[in-house]
Amino acid sequence: MKVLIVGSSGRLGSECKNVLGQAHELITPSKKKLNIISWDGVIECLQEVSPDVVLNCAGFTNIKACETNDFAVRKINVEGPRNLAQCSARFECVLIHISCGHVFDGQKLVPQPYFEDDTANPLSAYGKSKVESEMAVRGNAPDYIIIRSGWLYGIKGNNFLKSTLKQALREKPKPIRVPDDQYGSPTWSHRLALQIKELMEKNAKGTYHMTAEGHCSRFEYAKYVLDKLDIKATLEPCSIKDLKGPKTPANCLFENRLAKKQGFNVMVDWKDDLDSFLDEFGKALIKEVKTKKT
Ligand SMILES: NC(=O)c1ccc[n+]([C@@H]2O[C@H](COP(=O)([O-])OP(=O)(O)OC[C@H]3O[C@@H](n4cnc5c(N)ncnc54)[C@H](OP(=O)(O)O)[C@@H]3O)[C@@H](O)[C@H]2O)c1
Repeated sequence: MKVLIVGSSGRLGSECKNVLGQAHELITPSKKKLNIISWDGVIECLQEVSPDVVLNCAGFTNIKACETNDFAVRKINVEGPRNLAQCSARFECVLIHISCGHVFDGQKLVPQPYFEDDTANPLSAYGKSKVESEMAVRGNAPDYIIIRSGWLYGIKGNNFLKSTLKQALREKPKPIRVPDDQYGSPTWSHRLALQIKELMEKNAKGTYHMTAEGHCSRFEYAKYVLDKLDIKATLEPCSIKDLKGPKTPANCLFENRLAKKQGFNVMVDWKDDLDSFLDEFGKALIKEVKTKKT
């Protein structure tokens, strides 16, 4: 298939570029070449490239900054996906769009998971924009796949795993406060890219929840990583209510119901993938967080 990946320089987009590039023809324009907020730019690009699939990994993803950048968030997270959806409809290609657990309020009692058809009720500006992005895709692209995921980690860019390591490896480490009342399923972005490939190749349609199997609290996640890398640090349990910044859902558990029903689920237990990731990249991560200034 000919796949146009938007946002291929990002954390998830770069994994998709590696994984999909092994079996498909990819077109991976930079933001400078294809800015999704430009309707004309999107139309011209799709006309020129004529892809079978448009994979949208672009987004305004800094959750804190979303609270104070309403205009940019709307443009990138809502109008951009709408442009992609309308143009995908015009050129009859499939649109794959990535969403997340911030569309829910996380009020379900753990371990009850969220299903694809549960009612959205976002707590933050980011979550609200992701709900609207989904509506823009559903309302305009006849042939779409929306994939909701969360708690992603990988080698590129920042994530919770790296920030925990960074705090633990400070010259004078302080106790690291981590919520023990927020639950999710740490998901390797490489695994999500494999899952996207599977859904794309099987001509999946609709909205899919796609996170690793099993779950843990943030606290258990941080402890698992530090133990596995044999790093001594003091973790201090706290509540998500004690953390500054935009509200995030306490329960981020997803059931991959539709993908399982259709035989498309390639997710594995979160610990299995995290073990593989840390075996392969643990040393590089430690080196990176020790040398990086910010
Ligand atoms: N990270 C997570 O934990 C997570 C979890 C669930 C869902 N998601 C969703 O997955 C998607 C990708 O997330 P990510 O973490 O990989 O994002 P990311 O690392 O922040 O990358 C965002 C990408 O979007 C590009 N971009 C930004 N504005 C653009 C525009 N106007 N036109 C074209 N490209 C633009 C960026 O290009 P530049 O680098 O040139 O700015 C970058 O390549 C997002 O929709 C996000 O909501 C992420």
